[in-house]
Amino acid sequence: MTQTFPIEALKKKATPYYYYNIELLRQTLDAVKAEVSKHDNYFVHYAIKANANPVVLKPIMKAGLGIDCVSGGEITASLKAGFPADKIVFAGVGKADWEIEMGIDNNIFCFNVESIPELEVINEIAQRKGKVVNICLRINPNVGAHTHANITTGLSENKFGIDMAHMFDVIKMANEMSNVSFQGLHFHIGSQILEMDDFIALCHRVNELQDKLDAQGIKVKIINVGGGLGVDYDDPIGNPLPPLKEYFDVYNTHLKLRAGQELHFELGRAIVAQCGSLITKVLYMKDNTNKKFAIVDAGFTELIRPALYGAHHKIMNLTSNGPQDTYDVVGPICESSDTFDTDIKLNEVRRGDLIAMLSAGAYGEAMASCYNCRKLPKGYSSEDIMAE
Ligand code: LLP
Repeated sequence: MTQTFPIEALKKKATPYYYYNIELLRQTLDAVKAEVSKHDNYFVHYAIKANANPVVLKPIMKAGLGIDCVSGGEITASLKAGFPADKIVFAGVGKADWEIEMGIDNNIFCFNVESIPELEVINEIAQRKGKVVNICLRINPNVGAHTHANITTGLSENKFGIDMAHMFDVIKMANEMSNVSFQGLHFHIGSQILEMDDFIALCHRVNELQDKLDAQGIKVKIINVGGGLGVDYDDPIGNPLPPLKEYFDVYNTHLKLRAGQELHFELGRAIVAQCGSLITKVLYMKDNTNKKFAIVDAGFTELIRPALYGAHHKIMNLTSNGPQDTYDVVGPICESSDTFDTDIKLNEVRRGDLIAMLSAGAYGEAMASCYNCRKLPKGYSSEDIMAE
């Protein structure tokens, strides 16, 4: 399927806004399900941090995926969207007491615990409530990933997870606590990873740790390898689906699961990135001596990835067939970093043209801010847009 835009319908909405191609989302979900259904012990939790708009949550929930949350607000959004509590996993280095209470009160499936003090607090709160809660320990595997430094999480210098050297002590502590039930190990090495070798390195690390656990007679029911699978930002039209088969095959080939073990995944970007585009309008054209600026009405308030991670989102002029020229596409925010891309080729850009920034379904709307007292962008499903 190729990404097409219902241009006349898009013109009717006030810009800037997010447009979600639900048909492409469904195709992506079908492809995920096709891979996962080859194994009766594989479970995928959608990482809701990537996008919590109800129009994307609905098809994801209907596809039967679980959900990965990192805040009380995300738990609320998941429950509201209809995800069953027993498919919610809850990670994060800084869970507040109220968020832990909320998870316990709603009987979520599992807490992914990131430190000893957090483990103690969860046990204490669960005790107060007379409950026993499932926990996995998030282990920092010290495995690097070929991605932007800001989205690498699995190195020992990163704040995430429990040091491998402390794994046995923490398992022992958890097993001695009365109100937590130790279920397994959780990992996550980073995001926008397209080199399968990085995931293979994680598999090898998990295998090593499992060998050590076996030697101590410790049984683990759950292995959760997090998310991180990347998408093609350079050619989203030609390559709208992430390399799901390669990704799941890596785990099937390289991870040595023990009998009865479940393998959990937490995919965010791979599921929603390509279905979303930021739609913005050209406010002004400005010709300087060396540059042609297309000043659009979206800024890093709507899509912060280029400013924060140096990301490049493919940009298309939806309403022009004019001769190509070279432009810098910039927003209205009062900071030089409010630049979507520089020296890119676009069909002749004029005031009023509609511009699409592709692959923006993940970490786009979800990371929007109100800087400069701007309004948060709306996000519309293709189905709603077409029905109007
Ligand atoms: N699980 C855990 C524990 C995570 O921290 C993350 C992402 C995921 C799963 C989902 O990762 P994904 O499959 O989406 O790669 N804002 C950044 C990405 C931050 C990712 C944070 N953690 C960006 O726009 O590139």
